[in-house]
Amino acid sequence: MTAAERRVALDAIAAEVRDCTRCRLHETRTKAVPGEGDPDTEVVFVGEGPGENEDRQGRPFVGASGALLTELIESVGWTRPDVFITNVVKCRPPGNRDPQPDEIGACSVHLHHQMEVLDPAVVVTVGKHSLERFRPGDRISRVHGTTRPIDPATGVRDGLAFAMYHPAFALYQGSNRPTLFEDMAGLPGAVAASRQRRIVSDPPVAAQAAGTPPNDAIEPTEPLVTRSDTSDTDQLTLF
Ligand code: URA
Repeated sequence: MTAAERRVALDAIAAEVRDCTRCRLHETRTKAVPGEGDPDTEVVFVGEGPGENEDRQGRPFVGASGALLTELIESVGWTRPDVFITNVVKCRPPGNRDPQPDEIGACSVHLHHQMEVLDPAVVVTVGKHSLERFRPGDRISRVHGTTRPIDPATGVRDGLAFAMYHPAFALYQGSNRPTLFEDMAGLPGAVAASRQRRIVSDPPVAAQAAGTPPNDAIEPTEPLVTRSDTSDTDQLTLF
């Protein structure tokens, strides 16, 4: 798919999301929040669901958590428009409550379509519902800053899920802030590692024939950060 074809397909999904009545969240939303970003990106951030500001503007991560997410993205030399940002549920759960399992299930068709179109090398899971979707059974306090291959049943053909704490974790307690930035520093390395995996598992035909490496066969520049943090912070249900 070309970038233009991806844009058209993502716009069509966004239109479906704005018209969606698959779960009760459509009854209380102001605006649905399909997601936004570069259709040709390798990196997709998936949060939990829109909050009050996102519901008002129809855009993901535009409140306080969004400001910190933007800072985190910029800390590795990228900008927000370089990536794609979306959520597990596209409409705001009233009062910022957790999305219910049936709401997550109903909305999964949209996330699945987005993943098929974007074909990301890395999905950054932001918050526990996103982690559960792309790394079922994992606990954030044990796996933050690490990757795990994604089940293609999610719509991600061949990618790694990079686990991140939700920015609210640092807004709630400022002493958690350095952890988010340390984890984020490992993300470019995770992207490089995923590129290598994808080249090995699915070498581009033209590059094979020419005997030359494909354009994106870039050496990993940073080792993947792995952590064995066994602190009890995953007892907090908020993140
Ligand atoms: N928190 C999320 O998980 N997603 C948003 O879009 C905003 C805040």
